Amino acid sequence: MSVADARILELKPIVDARGHLCVIEGAQQVPFEIKRVYYLYDVPTNSTRGGHAHRKLHQMLIAVSGRFDVVLDDGRERRRVSLSRPDQGLLIPTMLWRELERFSYNGICLVLASEHYDEADYFREYEAFQREALANRR
Ligand code: TYD
Repeated sequence: MSVADARILELKPIVDARGHLCVIEGAQQVPFEIKRVYYLYDVPTNSTRGGHAHRKLHQMLIAVSGRFDVVLDDGRERRRVSLSRPDQGLLIPTMLWRELERFSYNGICLVLASEHYDEADYFREYEAFQREALANRR
């Protein structure tokens, strides 16, 4: 897996003078069935979230309010993606380290995940993740 494998997905809002609407259905607008939804909010601007990678889980991240940055790392290269639009999702495949930072004061990160919560799916130590990521790419 490489940082180039993460991609922005355009969500095509239903535009209306009363306010816009975005729909996300599992296995349709996102390429996986959604098993879990969670969101990060009231994140201090100097705080970093994430700091892990997943063996099996895929995710889509959306800035439903405000903005924040996602720093992706495949064990070799880093890539920074800024999210600030509720009609864009960042698809993150397996085996990418991610850190979320520079949240604006009203930044809310909505996360759609392909798996239920399972601590065994996490790499929480960067060196262990990097070893595995580099071994897989050989
Ligand atoms: P953590 O993985 O550190 O959050 P993030 O990576 O988004 O910054 O999770 C914080 C705590 O919440 C940790 O104790 C695990 C727990 N948690 C759950 O119980 N279920 C979940 O679905 C998630 C995402 C976290």
